[in-house]
Amino acid sequence: MELKTMILGHFLLVSLALNAGFIFKDYSKGKYNKAQHILTFKNDSLVTKPPSSKPLLTDVIDLDHGDPTMYERYWQETGDKTTVVIPGWKFTSYFSDTRNVYWFLEPEFGNAVIRLHKLVGNAVTDERYIVVGTGATQLFQAVLYAVAPRNASEPINVVSAAPFYTSYKLITDYLKSGLYKWGGDARIFENDNKPYIEVVTSPNNPDGSLRRSVVNRKQGKLIHDLAYYWPQYTSISLSPADHDIMLFTVSKTTGSWGWALVKDNEIAKKMTEFIVLSTLGVSKESQLRAAKILQVVSDSHQNKGHFEDTQPFFDHSYNLIAKRWERLRSAVKTSTLFSLPEFPHGRCSFSGRTFATQPAFAWLKCEGETDDCESFLRHGHNIITRSGKHFGDSAKYVRISVLPRDELFDQFVDRLAVINST
Ligand SMILES: Cc1ncc(COP(=O)(O)O)c(C=O)c1O
Repeated sequence: MELKTMILGHFLLVSLALNAGFIFKDYSKGKYNKAQHILTFKNDSLVTKPPSSKPLLTDVIDLDHGDPTMYERYWQETGDKTTVVIPGWKFTSYFSDTRNVYWFLEPEFGNAVIRLHKLVGNAVTDERYIVVGTGATQLFQAVLYAVAPRNASEPINVVSAAPFYTSYKLITDYLKSGLYKWGGDARIFENDNKPYIEVVTSPNNPDGSLRRSVVNRKQGKLIHDLAYYWPQYTSISLSPADHDIMLFTVSKTTGSWGWALVKDNEIAKKMTEFIVLSTLGVSKESQLRAAKILQVVSDSHQNKGHFEDTQPFFDHSYNLIAKRWERLRSAVKTSTLFSLPEFPHGRCSFSGRTFATQPAFAWLKCEGETDDCESFLRHGHNIITRSGKHFGDSAKYVRISVLPRDELFDQFVDRLAVINST
């Protein structure tokens, strides 16, 4: 009841917002200040140099997390193009768009998302609702909340085919919700005739495979997690993804923001309700920064003239990851100790290139008698990875991030080659 009051209540604030709009107009005219500073670089704390791209090379190589520091250099090279300055008076209101049920979506962010999807061609945006979230992590929870049936006698099962992204299980179960619970590997899910939610991650984290739903029963609800469906990681197919609920994030590109493209208005509203209840909206500052960076990604392809010394974002990223995979594969090939999955080639409708998926993670297998690959690499060789057992799979596998800074990646490949040669 209170929430309803809150969501509807914003309409009452429309007149207040309109007044604020007029004040903003005055700002724009220079009556109070220069509004154009909103998107320019003026803040001293932001002038501080980003962390050096040459960290100290310590003995321990930590590739456990998918921390995408590989991209840092590109953003340094774009200089002030992606810098956003936000004066203190801006964003005092909770509301971003009072005409919209999704009132915390900054229109600039929504427009940047649509523009990018249209450029890349990786997802349908027409007749879709955009729900913005603090990363795909929050949106995943919002979807569970939105699609889980109310008044069921037991929580609905959430499943995903193993190996699955570690966090699905952790997030689903951490609050011991009465609405949903983790049901494990979708391939062995047997609760016939019971409703379920299946998460389809493609390309998949951890193993990079391209996936479709596996349970395929009519009581199922599908969440497509397309966090890695971007053209530096995999070829984009001719028809844009057109699923009912699609999660996207640019946390593996630029920074931690996500959005969902949702077909059904009721589901989008319920997701909005979850985000209102959990965080009362999504930081406008983040959305504005996200919008700026997404615009620059699109500009780097569509307005190349403004990017004399910098390659278009997806070309730069594709080339960098392609080189990393080439080096990794040749280091692994020198012995029979390890193996990596092979991926089918596909023609990318965005770039025109034909290539095999080059995932953000390497799903490395210890061949032979090594049963605990994580422990072998950690205790024997000071390389920290994440064991396959956290992904519902065998400890013979480990997941390794392919996205660290250059120096760390180089050091890792060199060390792998040394292990292979001893
Ligand atoms: C498949 C997948 N989905 C979702 C997420 C979470 O994304 P975010 O960082 O935007 O919360 C990740 C992050 O690693 C991921 O790999």
